[in-house]
Amino acid sequence: MKFQTNKREYIFSVLDFVLVLFLISTVDARAPGGRTFDDNYYVTWGNVLKLNQGTEVQLSMDQTAGSGFNSKHKFGSGFFEMRIKLPPKDTAGVVTTFYLTSKGDTQDELDFEFLGDREGKPIHIQTNVFINGQGNREQKFVLWFDPSADFHTYGILWNPYQIVFYVDKVPIRIFKNNKKYGVGYPSKPMTVVASLWNGEGWATDGGRSKINWSYAPFKANFQRFSDSGCHADGPNINAKVCGSTTYWWNTVQYSMLSANETTAFKNVRAKYMTYDYCSDQPRYPVPPTECRLNQ
Ligand SMILES: *[C@@H]1O[C@H](CO)[C@@H](O)[C@H](O)[C@H]1NC(C)=O
Ligand SMILES: *[C@@H]1O[C@H](CO)[C@@H](O)[C@H](O)[C@H]1NC(C)=O
Repeated sequence: MKFQTNKREYIFSVLDFVLVLFLISTVDARAPGGRTFDDNYYVTWGNVLKLNQGTEVQLSMDQTAGSGFNSKHKFGSGFFEMRIKLPPKDTAGVVTTFYLTSKGDTQDELDFEFLGDREGKPIHIQTNVFINGQGNREQKFVLWFDPSADFHTYGILWNPYQIVFYVDKVPIRIFKNNKKYGVGYPSKPMTVVASLWNGEGWATDGGRSKINWSYAPFKANFQRFSDSGCHADGPNINAKVCGSTTYWWNTVQYSMLSANETTAFKNVRAKYMTYDYCSDQPRYPVPPTECRLNQ
């Protein structure tokens, strides 16, 4: 009896050891740097398929629903990146998003919206900045590559000095902190959100090009679920803490563009920007103050 118990304990401890080794090896293979979807994100709606041990997800949209996910944390600053592969072929009316939002009616929000189009016509990237629920700051671009052919990295830097939208390390838009000149600046804790949804009412040709459902389900893939932001959960968040230079994205080299970034920024805007609210005179006879200051 005693012998049997000992033997069983021995077998269990060997099994435990093997199990621990197994877990260590699968965690390693699965999540270099702890970057599975489940570590930092959760599904909020629709059909989201986890791939490659949770390091990639695929959002789908059919006629019944789109889909989306949120970060588990809210943030007060950070450098948020996502690798995204957009739905291919005819995607008129289909909108893929990656954005930061504080939610509600008086939200701060920083948007990437990918507006699909008929096959052969370019997908547009629309960026927007909301402060206290007020947006209307659209800038649109076409891309210098086919964003549905492969993954590309889309980034949003948000620190006390500036907001920068990046495409594969190229800055395409800057919104500087000009509070000292009375320009608003996003400051509310924000969640990272991604989604795939039906935007046929507005997204393509001002809403004239509708979704062709014979191409459904539409699928967008996402990778890189890192957590490179200052956590700002709960009611007691102190904005000063998230502005601290102990976070790398708040250090001096992220307070302005470098020389080569400035060159790339000017080049992209000259060649690929298709709409800028700052130069939409019928809409803004007097351009908003930030337009001049962000130059
Ligand atoms: C600018 O140079 C840095 C350092 O060499 C590099 O990491 C970065 O990708 C460059 N940016 C652009 C837009 O070329
Ligand atoms: C939708 O796409 C299919 C397949 O290409 C095509 O036959 C059909 O005419 C399209 N429908 C509309 C409304 O454009």
